[in-house]
Amino acid sequence: MKFKTSLLTRSLLSLTVGAALVASAGSALAQAKPLAGQTVKMMWIDPLTGLMGPVGTNQYKSWQFFQEKFNASNPAGVKFDVIAVDNKLSPTESLNALKQAVFQNGVAVLRDQELTPEQHIAFAKRWGGIDVNPFFPTNSGWPEIAEVRKAEDQKDNIGGGWHTDHSFDQIPAMGSILVARELPPVGGDTLFSSMGAAFDSLSDGLKQTLSGLRAVHTADHIYQPGGYYSNTDLAGEMTGQELSTRAVHPVVIRHPVTGRRLLYVNGAFTTHFEGWTREESLPLLTYLSQLGSREDFRCRVEWKPGSVAIWDNRATWHLAENDYHGHRRVMHRITLTGDPLAA
Ligand code: SIN
Repeated sequence: MKFKTSLLTRSLLSLTVGAALVASAGSALAQAKPLAGQTVKMMWIDPLTGLMGPVGTNQYKSWQFFQEKFNASNPAGVKFDVIAVDNKLSPTESLNALKQAVFQNGVAVLRDQELTPEQHIAFAKRWGGIDVNPFFPTNSGWPEIAEVRKAEDQKDNIGGGWHTDHSFDQIPAMGSILVARELPPVGGDTLFSSMGAAFDSLSDGLKQTLSGLRAVHTADHIYQPGGYYSNTDLAGEMTGQELSTRAVHPVVIRHPVTGRRLLYVNGAFTTHFEGWTREESLPLLTYLSQLGSREDFRCRVEWKPGSVAIWDNRATWHLAENDYHGHRRVMHRITLTGDPLAA
């Protein structure tokens, strides 16, 4: 198997818009700060070290400019980044630009936001529907918001293995919007991996083989009694243990907006290939799990108070790092309704 060398040095670009997104996201969020006079500040995140550095306000002229600049500096073609909510665009254009950024690049990070739960829900609805997660605890009366929480005295965390949200649904979630509520002093980053880059790296032979396969996804082995989470100190947190989930999806899908071919299996929820036994499937699934988590396909989101990440569940995997024992971390997640998947 031929591997590309890692060319990617900087894979996540985030933009601090000082509440510009909130202000520009529509009437439901109209109480947010006005656009006039806001500063726009770009930052890079190095995917390997997590280091961030400012690019500067002067370099931001337009979304197109930024996209070209970013792509030009990214010869490996792994496109995590970005964000571009241009203060000069209308609210609808801003949101459309942000959606395109997420679809094309996998994940976007907005800094310094002040979203209330109501604003989080209102913003999510501007992307389409909300898929309510039946397994995570909800946040004091907001069923749309799944609380991803790890307490000071817990050792296990939610989402600590590579996965994509809701792949066990018949129509898996398009994406997720995660808002940082309480952060540990250090650690607790989220890693993302590009399934477009993972697919592109395969040989023509394996691409062809995988393109003819479908795979079974379920969450039963995780949430049901006796499942993975019931053996951890998260057991008391989870709901929906009585539910059974099962879906069959193509192993290689086409992104419904960009048309990019994406690897669509993941280590948490994909149990086997359709028509194959688990035992037969495991070697290839293990290979794909290792491939998909390769460092040169990844970027790292370092959370800060006010950070919001929006990602595309078709195009990425993610993993919540569990490296902050003794501290509390609380995140609010809304999962966005997707489209049927097709090869
Ligand atoms: C998730 O797996 O959706 C949560 C990710 C995180 O907590 O960083």
